Amino acid sequence: MSENILQDLEMVTCTAPVNIAVIKYWGKRDEDLILPVNASLSVTLHQDHLRTTTTIACSRSFHKDCIWLNGKEQDISHPRLQSCLLEIRRLAQRRKNTGDPASDVSNKVHICSVNNFPTAAGLASSAAGYACLVYTLSQLFNVEGELSGVARQGSGSACRSLYGGFVQWKLGEQSDGKDSIAEQVASELYWPELRVLILVVSAEQKSVGSTSGMHTSVETSHLLKYRADAVVPGRMEEMIRAIRLRDFPKFGELTMKDSNQFHAICLDTYPPIFYLNNISHQIISLVHRYNQYYGETRVAYTFDAGPNAVIYSLQDYLPEFVEVVRHFFPPEVNEEEFFKGLPVCPADLSEEMIRDINMKPTPNGIRYMISTKAGPGPRVVEDPNLHLLGADGLPK
Ligand code: DP6
Repeated sequence: MSENILQDLEMVTCTAPVNIAVIKYWGKRDEDLILPVNASLSVTLHQDHLRTTTTIACSRSFHKDCIWLNGKEQDISHPRLQSCLLEIRRLAQRRKNTGDPASDVSNKVHICSVNNFPTAAGLASSAAGYACLVYTLSQLFNVEGELSGVARQGSGSACRSLYGGFVQWKLGEQSDGKDSIAEQVASELYWPELRVLILVVSAEQKSVGSTSGMHTSVETSHLLKYRADAVVPGRMEEMIRAIRLRDFPKFGELTMKDSNQFHAICLDTYPPIFYLNNISHQIISLVHRYNQYYGETRVAYTFDAGPNAVIYSLQDYLPEFVEVVRHFFPPEVNEEEFFKGLPVCPADLSEEMIRDINMKPTPNGIRYMISTKAGPGPRVVEDPNLHLLGADGLPK
């Protein structure tokens, strides 16, 4: 890249987290504003293990807005990207009119974004991506205040990634969506024993994207309507109570039931959508048999629009469950490739438990796992060496 140093270049780098819903968002009542048919609730994962990093620069010398994602230039005219850019520039202009010394919003921006996890793994990359975009833009243009309503217009689930810990996305009532925003229920420090284990399963084909999947569900599934009207309002209250009481059995049960109901809606969609595969089904059985062995809910699964499982558990229970997974899905790769993230202590398995679970091992069914916990919301990266764009405003 050329070393054409731009004197007026302003640059900000931020990181934002992934979130995994325990009460799922599925279905929009307004597709342009991205307003949901039901409230949802998620846990923000720790950025030490999963994060998006975004650098945004602005300069008078830039001729047009540009974006690079994971090293490749993308089409900036994407309507959802445009919604976020437009909205932040509007908010910045409003501040400027009140005399705030914000960057010149008429300047074009260069955006460069990378994930520290494989996008192909099917983990929620759009949520972290749009949250990071909106947060970084807000830092550059000095916009303060409620940003989740802007991130929501990039991708619904992104609004929840603007906060750490346990986050609800409120349904809202207004037609302009102003009250359909995210809100922290409890911080990431509230339940320090809670653990998250992502099981990346071997998947061959790419499944239906969430945007088109939920569109078809809204059009065809009666179960979706029933869930939104009669199930989710009560379940949100119960879930918030379980979190406040740090009641893992209740939290786990609600999480599994909600994941199952979401996938039931996918089956009720016409034509049906299949996100779970054989390995996903085996993980579901394994979790239930493991909990059955102990006579209580010690681990819980949830699945998004793909076959990967996210397991919630507690610090004391996780080491044994990791061994159980290793036993029933023996890896064919080395330890570093198989186990990533927060280390867990080695644990012994009782033969009685293995016998009781009574499942046939599936070698290589799980490609790798990432162990993590709840974490904070987006952050500014202070070290200028970590900018993804160089002094010429182009990717390094
Ligand atoms: C299954 O937020 O990706 O992960 O708003 O169309 O961009 P759009 O959809 P998206 O949907 C996420 C759906 C989900 C459940 C959840 O995260 O709540």
